[in-house]
Amino acid sequence: MIEEIQALKKERRATILAHNYQIPAVQDIADLAGDSLELSRAAAALDSEVIVFCGVDFMAETAAILSPQKRVVLPVKGAWCPMAHMITPQQLDELKALYPQAAVVCYVNSTAEIKAKSDICCTSANGVQVVESLSEDEVIFVPDRNLAAYVARHTKKKIIPWDGYCYVHDQFTPEMVKAARKLHPHAELLVHPECRPEVIDLADFVYSTAGMCKHPDTSRAQEYIIGTEVGMIYRLKKAHPDREFYPLSDEAICQNMKKTTIPDVLRALQTLEPRVTVPEEIAVRARGAIERMLRVKV
Ligand code: 13P
Ligand code: SF4
Repeated sequence: MIEEIQALKKERRATILAHNYQIPAVQDIADLAGDSLELSRAAAALDSEVIVFCGVDFMAETAAILSPQKRVVLPVKGAWCPMAHMITPQQLDELKALYPQAAVVCYVNSTAEIKAKSDICCTSANGVQVVESLSEDEVIFVPDRNLAAYVARHTKKKIIPWDGYCYVHDQFTPEMVKAARKLHPHAELLVHPECRPEVIDLADFVYSTAGMCKHPDTSRAQEYIIGTEVGMIYRLKKAHPDREFYPLSDEAICQNMKKTTIPDVLRALQTLEPRVTVPEEIAVRARGAIERMLRVKV
């Protein structure tokens, strides 16, 4: 199947992008495995005709918004991010009416309609820089309350959060951190900014998944406890075979990120379905918010 995928990829002029939480076989078959920011940049820059996006709905939507002329395929139709659906366009309109002077920042883990109603997007890699790039002193930040709290710690601006969360990261507790630190006393603790503030308080470093991948290049530690989805462990071991990585919890599994398998990728290349498209009247506004983010220097 892998040989068939490689052959079809050439024939279709396709690129396979995979998020860092994908299963090992899918990460291995991908042309690029990365975090949301890296994958968005790649989607914008690629000159291939087809993008097979191994991830969840909002990631493929972002690629489709950035490159409407390309065919973006999400191999499993039902691979979605629950957090991205925790705020509706109507709820965002109500929040904007309460704070008419505030700018609106939306995490890319959001629907295209929410992006279309926002001034700018951000990812877990650039939230602080995006907020700092704005002239407004008040910022509505949706949908992740934990990323909002993390950004609020690093800016003087007033952050008005929405109460969404990621069920994978929100489950980490200070007790888990204490237990992991006891088991691995020499390890550094790296956590994702989608974790709760009380977990972030105990971490050595806070990173997007790409940031976690780069960290060992500049750290002398031999061992790391990883406070994010368990798929990162494979990604990190592959990038740094001389180091040890332990998950903060074996149960931190994003079910939707695990839905895509090699047969799904093969079928996607054979059929070029399911295609992800965004209606142009929404895409045109969402594109503005994403492209504005891509211009912010990190
Ligand atoms: P990253 O952009 O850090 O890879 O995070 C995406 C995500 O969905 C985290 O849960
Ligand atoms: Fe969404 Fe959380 Fe899964 Fe990331 S890990 S895709 S935020 S549910």
